[in-house]
Amino acid sequence: MDPNGKVALVTGAARRVGRSLALALGDAGCRVAVHYGSSQKDAGETVSLIHSMGGEAAIFHADLEDPSQIESLTNSVAEQLGPIEILVNNASIFDKVGLEDASVENWDRHFAINTRAPFLLAQTMQHQLTANSTGKIISLNDWRTARPTRFAYGVTKSALSGLTRTLALSMAPHVQVNEIALGAILPPADIPLDRPRDEIKIDLGPADRMGTLNEVADAMMMLIKNDFITGETINVDGGRHIQ
Ligand SMILES: NC(=O)c1ccc[n+]([C@@H]2O[C@H](COP(=O)([O-])OP(=O)(O)OC[C@H]3O[C@@H](n4cnc5c(N)ncnc54)[C@H](OP(=O)(O)O)[C@@H]3O)[C@@H](O)[C@H]2O)c1
Repeated sequence: MDPNGKVALVTGAARRVGRSLALALGDAGCRVAVHYGSSQKDAGETVSLIHSMGGEAAIFHADLEDPSQIESLTNSVAEQLGPIEILVNNASIFDKVGLEDASVENWDRHFAINTRAPFLLAQTMQHQLTANSTGKIISLNDWRTARPTRFAYGVTKSALSGLTRTLALSMAPHVQVNEIALGAILPPADIPLDRPRDEIKIDLGPADRMGTLNEVADAMMMLIKNDFITGETINVDGGRHIQ
C-alpha cells in the first residue's frame, strides 16, 4: 500500500504512543483521524502538529467502551475524511490489578476497551477498509502477552493476539491484519514523564534500553507498506520476549 492520501484512524491518538503514530501517518501523507476519549486538548495539539507539517487531520471523540459510539465514530470519520483504509488500534487501559483484586467490572472494562473495541471497529468498517484496494489493521500489543502480569490487561492483550489472527483470516485477501508487540517504550501513563528513569522499575530486554517512539512508528509504516504480511506479531521490544 502507498499510504499517501489514505484515511487512517488512530485510536487514543491524543498523547504518547498514539500521537507519535498519528504524526508518522500524517508525515506519510495520510489524512489522519485523531481519536480521543478524554484528552480533547491534547488531541487538538496532535492535529495542529500534523497541520504544521502540511498534512490533513481532524479530531474525533468516542468512548470505546460504548459500542454505539464506535459505530458513530467510523461513520463520522468516513463523512468528514472519506473511507477509512488504515485502522491503528492503539487505545488501551492497563490497570494495576492482580488475580486477587480482579473484579467483574474491571475484567469487563478491559475487555470492552482492549479487545471488543478493535473487533467492533473492524466489523463496522470492513467495507470502508476495502473501498479502494487493500486495507490495513494494526493493533498495538505487548511482549508480555507471552508472560502476562497485570491480570485483566494480560488476558485481554492475549485475546487481542487471537483477534489479530482471526481477523487476518476472516478479512483475507483484501485486508492485512497485524500487531506490534511493544516492550518498554514509555513509562505507564500514571508515572510522571520527568521522574528519573532509574527510579522506575522498567523491564528492559537484551537491548538494555527503552525503545523510541520512532522505532514503533517505523514498524507500523513497514506493516502498512507491505501487502504480504498478515496475521503476524512484530515484536518491537529490544528482544525482551526471548529473554
Ligand atoms: N507505553 C509503552 O511502553 C507500551 C508498552 C507495551 C505496550 N504498549 C501498548 O501500546 C499502546 C499505546 O501505549 P500508551 O502507553 O501510549 O497507552 P496509554 O497512554 O495507556 O493509553 C492510550 C490512550 O487510550 C485511550 N483510551 C483509554 N480508554 C479509552 C476509552 N474508554 N475510550 C477512548 N479512548 C480510551 C486514552 O485516550 P484519552 O487520553 O483521550 O482518554 C489514552 O490516551 C497500548 O495499546 C499499550 O498497551 C505500550
